[in-house]
Amino acid sequence: MTMKSAFCILVCFLQLCTVNGQVICERQIITEWRTEPKPAIIKWTPRENVCSDFYTECWNLNKSVTGEVLEEQNLSIPQICPLQLQLGDSLFISSEPSFQSYGMNLVNVSKEEFINCPKAAFLQEQLIFVCQIRGLHQVDPNWLGVGTHYFAELHRRGPLLCSMGLRLNVTVKQQFCQQSLDAPLCSGHGKCLSHVWEKAYHCHCFSQYSGTFCQKFDVCSTKPCHNNASCAEKSELSGDSYECTCPPKFSGKNCTEIIGQCQPSTCVNGNCINVTPNTFLCECNKGFTGRKHLFSLSYNNNFICY
Ligand SMILES: *[C@@H]1O[C@H](CO)[C@@H](O)[C@H](O)[C@H]1NC(C)=O
Ligand SMILES: *[C@@H]1O[C@H](CO)[C@@H](O)[C@H](O)[C@H]1NC(C)=O
Ligand SMILES: *[C@@H]1O[C@H](CO)[C@@H](O)[C@H](O)[C@H]1NC(C)=O
Ligand SMILES: *[C@@H]1O[C@H](CO)[C@@H](O)[C@H](O)[C@H]1NC(C)=O
Ligand SMILES: *[C@@H]1O[C@H](CO)[C@@H](O)[C@H](O)[C@H]1NC(C)=O
Ligand SMILES: *[C@@H]1O[C@H](CO)[C@@H](O)[C@H](O)[C@H]1NC(C)=O
Repeated sequence: MTMKSAFCILVCFLQLCTVNGQVICERQIITEWRTEPKPAIIKWTPRENVCSDFYTECWNLNKSVTGEVLEEQNLSIPQICPLQLQLGDSLFISSEPSFQSYGMNLVNVSKEEFINCPKAAFLQEQLIFVCQIRGLHQVDPNWLGVGTHYFAELHRRGPLLCSMGLRLNVTVKQQFCQQSLDAPLCSGHGKCLSHVWEKAYHCHCFSQYSGTFCQKFDVCSTKPCHNNASCAEKSELSGDSYECTCPPKFSGKNCTEIIGQCQPSTCVNGNCINVTPNTFLCECNKGFTGRKHLFSLSYNNNFICY
């Protein structure tokens, strides 16, 4: 048997395997940034992890769910389940054992070449590995910069194996979740996440925090302004970080002081204390202290603790 016919038999065998097996790729819609890089191992074989329909098998997403059609493309591209990596993760290719005597290598191709599996000859600098692959090979990190990369099977007998699915879409993402190199992710007040279609990881802040790195505490959410006053955050971090705009009759930093002077029985269920020549406070009696400075202005101008 010649090498050529043996190769054809092998390809036919693999084709049989792939026709019967439909693969739905495992996919997380949203991933959280790992603090440690992780190795990914891709089995370079059309037998196990080749999907063909872009939306339902390879990404397990509905077109309608993702909204707009992403790009004009033939949706049926048999390929190894697309891979998403964090910058710094390592990638290993584990070659199909039965291919090892046929001389395989991978090439870095453009998106168009990935879709069409061109027959054109490849340049030396497109080769991913210096030698043909046998067993487990690590992809040089130089091929795994931030962005989407397309790797396709290179075989001197043409693009057949690529068309059968020996091509890989690898997207490498970086994170923008740290204010400085050694700062905690999202200042410890949020999660560093990426949606499958996003190009990078960004902070999603817990409630009461905001800012690119969740570094800002939203002081107004603690409700420092009383008596229906409105609260505004001040940008300077020095001194007071919020400002209350008091409704009529109220004054003071937190709008807890009442404009005027104590009169007999102005404070219902409370004790009246003059604060300044123009303002006074009602200190609510025990049992009404739950909301010390929250008053209700009654029709006869009294302040009621409740
Ligand atoms: C995709 O759409 C089908 C019906 O149109 C629905 O049954 C299925 O749950 C959807 N899948 C996802 C992941 O939204
Ligand atoms: C997609 O490609 C397959 C195989 O190459 C072909 O049969 C099919 O007609 C194409 N579909 C579209 C919409 O171009
Ligand atoms: C891989 O191929 C693409 C498309 O041809 C090219 O833009 C990119 O620079 C190549 N990557 C490397 C690391 O050479
Ligand atoms: C490759 O994967 C990315 C997502 O990581 C996707 O946006 C892109 O459309 C895919 N490319 C092709 C040609 O399927
Ligand atoms: C205003 O409220 C804050 C806490 O919400 C408190 O620390 C501060 O002492 C209050 N200031 C005055 C003048 O009552
Ligand atoms: C605050 O405003 C609401 C309606 O906007 C009103 O019902 C309530 O009595 C007000 N509270 C005070 C303390 O003025």
